[in-house]
Amino acid sequence: MTGFVDKPEPVQVSGLVHVHTGKVRDLYRNEAGDLVMVASDRVSAYDWVLPTEIPDKGRVLTQLSLWWFDQFADLVPNHVVSTELPPGAPADWEGRTVVCRPLRMVPVECVARGYLTGSGLVEYQESRTVCGLALPEGLVDGSELPAPIFTPATKAEVGEHDENVAYEEVARRVGADTAAELRQLTLAVYSRGRDIARERGIILADTKFEFGWGPAEDGTDDGERLFLADEVLTPDSSRFWPADEWEPGRPQPSFDKQIVRDWLASPAAGWDRHGEQPPPALPAEVVERTRARYIEAYELLTGTRWS
Ligand SMILES: Nc1ncnc2c1ncn2[C@@H]1O[C@H](COP(=O)(O)OP(=O)(O)OP(=O)(O)O)[C@@H](O)[C@H]1O
Ligand SMILES: [Mg+2]
Repeated sequence: MTGFVDKPEPVQVSGLVHVHTGKVRDLYRNEAGDLVMVASDRVSAYDWVLPTEIPDKGRVLTQLSLWWFDQFADLVPNHVVSTELPPGAPADWEGRTVVCRPLRMVPVECVARGYLTGSGLVEYQESRTVCGLALPEGLVDGSELPAPIFTPATKAEVGEHDENVAYEEVARRVGADTAAELRQLTLAVYSRGRDIARERGIILADTKFEFGWGPAEDGTDDGERLFLADEVLTPDSSRFWPADEWEPGRPQPSFDKQIVRDWLASPAAGWDRHGEQPPPALPAEVVERTRARYIEAYELLTGTRWS
C-alpha cells in the first residue's frame, strides 16, 4: 500500500535538488548543503495521504513550529537556519518554507504524554502500563497522568503504524546516553509547552518530537549534538484539547484533524478504512471546518491573529 492517493510531483527549482516527499513535507537540498523543508497543505488520516488539501495548513504548521522553536530556544537548539525563500522558489512557498540544518535523524519518535488516550489508553487497559511504564489504577480516557511520561515509538514507513517501544529498546538502538538525553529533552520541552498551552486554555495531551544529530553550533569542534527538528507542537504532531471542555471518561474534542477522521469513518464517506480502496475526496464543509480548527489552534497558542 502506497499511502498516497495522488503522489505529488516535486517542484523544479534551479539550485535545489529534491530529496524526499513526506506525507506532509517536501524536502530539497540547496547549494549550500542545507535542507529546504516545504510544508504542503496535504492531510493524512488512517495511514493515507488524502486526495483533498486543507488550504493554509502548511503555513499554519510552519508558523506555529517556528513560534514554538523560539519558546524552547534556551532548552534545546533547533534545526532552523532561515525562513528566507530560496531564489527562484515559487511565491506560494512563502510562509511554509524553512531552510534547516541537515541532521542525522534519530530513528525514534520521541513521544511525551501528560494525559492518557489513544494507543497509551489501549495499552493501559490491557496491562496498566504505557510503553512498559507502570501507571496507577483507575485512569480513564483523558485522565491526567501523575507526571508526564516518555513513551517512544519507532518511526514507520508511509502506510505503516508507528509502534510503541520500551525505553530499554530505545537504549539498545541508540545507546544509553542518547536515550537518556532524548527522554530528558522530550520531557523538558513537553512540560514547557504544556504550561504555555495551559495558560491559553489548551491542554497539550501528548506530542511527538523528532531529534537529529548535527555538528555543534559553531562547527569549531568535531563533536555532534542533538537538535530539535521537523515540526513542533502542531495539531499534526500533538493532541490539543480545549481545556474548558476537558472531561475524563470520554474521547475529548480536539484541535486537529478529528473532523476529517470522523467524516471518513461516517456513512456519508461510504469508505471502508480497513479495505483496499483509497479514501474519497473531502466535502468542502469538512475542509473549511478543519482549516478553521488549525487556525484557531494557531491563534489561541500564539496569541496572534492569523493573517
Ligand atoms: N533537520 C532535518 N534533517 C533531516 N531530516 C529532517 C529534518 N527535519 C525533519 N526531517 C525529516 O523530514 C521529513 C518530513 O516529512 P513529513 O513530516 O512529511 O514526514 P513523514 O515522515 O512522511 O510523516 P510523519 O511526520 O507523519 O512521520 C521526515 O522524514 C523527518 O524525519
Ligand atoms: Mg513528519
